[in-house]
Amino acid sequence: MLVNAARMLRKAHDEHYAVGHFNINNLEWTKAILLTAEELKSPVILGVSEGAAKYMGGFKVVAAMVKALDECLGITVPVALHLDHGTYNGVKACIEAGFTSVMFDGSSLPFEENLAKTQELVNLAHDKGLSIEAEVGAIGGTEDGVTADGEVADPEECRIIANLGVDFLAAGIGNIHGIYPEGWTGLHLDALENIQKATGGIPLVLHGGTGIPDDQIRAAIKGGMSKINVNTDCQLVFAQATIDYCAAGKADPSAANTAKGYDPRKLLKPGFQAIQAKVKEKMELFGSIGKAE
Ligand code: 13P
Repeated sequence: MLVNAARMLRKAHDEHYAVGHFNINNLEWTKAILLTAEELKSPVILGVSEGAAKYMGGFKVVAAMVKALDECLGITVPVALHLDHGTYNGVKACIEAGFTSVMFDGSSLPFEENLAKTQELVNLAHDKGLSIEAEVGAIGGTEDGVTADGEVADPEECRIIANLGVDFLAAGIGNIHGIYPEGWTGLHLDALENIQKATGGIPLVLHGGTGIPDDQIRAAIKGGMSKINVNTDCQLVFAQATIDYCAAGKADPSAANTAKGYDPRKLLKPGFQAIQAKVKEKMELFGSIGKAE
């Protein structure tokens, strides 16, 4: 059931669990995530970066695919289709294309400009029934080719942006996208406490969900992180499962391979199953299993 993400995250925040945001890259990933969420009766957020949307053919293609899969697979749990790290124009395009949720990432802009653009997009998204996430303090690491260091967001800036009416807020607490470097000092949980206090209990979003130790994830959820974004972990297990399958000779195109393991439906199956297992593991950790209404 496609919905915006405001209610599911409010509930997660109130009941101290987090909803997983899993980035999608193709039909197989989308199907794997939707079927797992349905099986586990968990709400879920499908995250789409602008780069991934372009790869799949555009925002309209993604929206049409997700809507049709949701309907044809008979998905009953709440599912939000969410633009991840959207630009100003990207947010507007996704509102038109039929997404149910958007993130405007104005964190690289001067604060006043981030503020003005966020306000405009909050009004636009809410007029059309979408939920909206904003960002304060750049989330480090590399995503879509853009590299930045992990920052700790300023609580006062978080308060000002939260007051614009955003539904949930990405606030950096030292988290970064991708693989954490050796010597990473961990999440700044003291900063999280200050940010949550300053923002009056708005659901917060933890980006860079790959590679954070489980105990820190649990502490972050306790501190108000109600949406946790995971991308690299799914990429890694998908790639490894495909590599292992090929290394076992199953995709060998010789005439002797009567099983025809190179058939894409067979070739992509181990990756599909690996994503299902990874999503299940994360939903267990985040505490969202059985939380769908
Ligand atoms: P990871 O790639 O580190 O899991 O982060 C994903 C993310 O935050 C997407 O916005």
